[in-house]
Amino acid sequence: MNVLVTGGAGFIGSAFVRMLIAETDWRVINFDKLTYAGNLENLAAVAEGPRYRFIHADICDEAAVAAAIGEESPDAIVHFAAESHVDRSILSPEPVIHTNFRGTFVLLEAARRAKIARFLQVSTDEVYGSLEQPLEATEDFPLNPSSPYSASKAGADLLARSYFTTYRLPVVITRASNNYGPYQFPEKLIPLMITNALEDRRLPVYGDGMQVRDWLYVSDHCRGILAALRGGRDGEIYNIGGNRSLPNLIVVRQVLALTGKTEALIEYVTDRPGHDRRYALSSDKLTAETGWAPLMDFENGLAHTIAWYENHRDWVERVRSGEYRTYYEQNYGTRSLAH
Ligand code: NAD
Ligand code: TYD
Repeated sequence: MNVLVTGGAGFIGSAFVRMLIAETDWRVINFDKLTYAGNLENLAAVAEGPRYRFIHADICDEAAVAAAIGEESPDAIVHFAAESHVDRSILSPEPVIHTNFRGTFVLLEAARRAKIARFLQVSTDEVYGSLEQPLEATEDFPLNPSSPYSASKAGADLLARSYFTTYRLPVVITRASNNYGPYQFPEKLIPLMITNALEDRRLPVYGDGMQVRDWLYVSDHCRGILAALRGGRDGEIYNIGGNRSLPNLIVVRQVLALTGKTEALIEYVTDRPGHDRRYALSSDKLTAETGWAPLMDFENGLAHTIAWYENHRDWVERVRSGEYRTYYEQNYGTRSLAH
């Protein structure tokens, strides 16, 4: 089996590549542009192996995509590459729309021409938008995205589906909840709070901090994608959730407790525009069809993640380049204290 993974140098993609190399005998081709979020250090453990190849290219580049598929004849494409952060999509939507929507289109077209046997579109629970308690999205829920990020992912998700309906391209779509774990870029809630807490910096909580997210450990997500890749049915959508819904403030307090810091570090700041209040989803379909279930409980997953960041301060330093500092200033410098 030959698998082309896009975005394999990012947080989830690199965990997926490491998992494939460790747990299968497949050949893995990682196709990644190396944006600020892509980091080959995440793949140091597999980079020298004979079953791994890295291609440094943009999914929006039709010639590069066609060349990679022509050279490697992959049996499957697993498409992670994206601009993945809501706050950046609010500050600067253009690259988000370009990569997430147009890039997915380029890949789907190339997959259709090459008659790829499986195209797995990595989507998100954010396409369902904010849900009132006690609703949980099943795969047939209407899409109601709120941010440029989630709208671009919903567009890509629908486009992928249309390639099954129209061209019978064997597409499978997974929609996962919020991931956390080692190697996550410190712009997302959990790694940002951990890295700030470890350095006694302020922990910026948007609005009242009572927004709810369902937390999924990254390796559980990767196992779910592999289960859908192997056992999912063509044209179907599979939710992948962690089955652990928590308000942000509870997560932040747990980070403070586990890092031995006080709640005085919490700073309530201006809310994110269009902020979704609550995500919730049911993964019963994937469980029923493949037997998949999340294995990591949140307390252990968070403790393990904190230990990883404590032991990888040099990694954190390197990814917090000048670009990160510019983003941090743009996103947080203009946010006033909420009270
Ligand atoms: P990430 O930002 O850590 O990594 C994205 C990767 O894509 C990087 O390696 C980057 O270099 C690459 N990339 C970006 N634009 C590219 C382009 N034009 N061409 C080629 N490569 C490009 O993202 P992540 O958190 O690992 O998310 C991966 C996927 O999972 C995304 O599709 C995201 O929408 C989805 N997802 C993420 C979460 C989450 O909680 N992080 C939850 C559900 C779904
Ligand atoms: P994030 O990790 O950006 O994921 P998403 O927006 O895709 O769910 O944010 C998770 C939650 O944490 C979301 O409700 C926004 C909130 N948040 C903060 O309160 N402060 C922050 O500095 C960040 C990055 C997020």
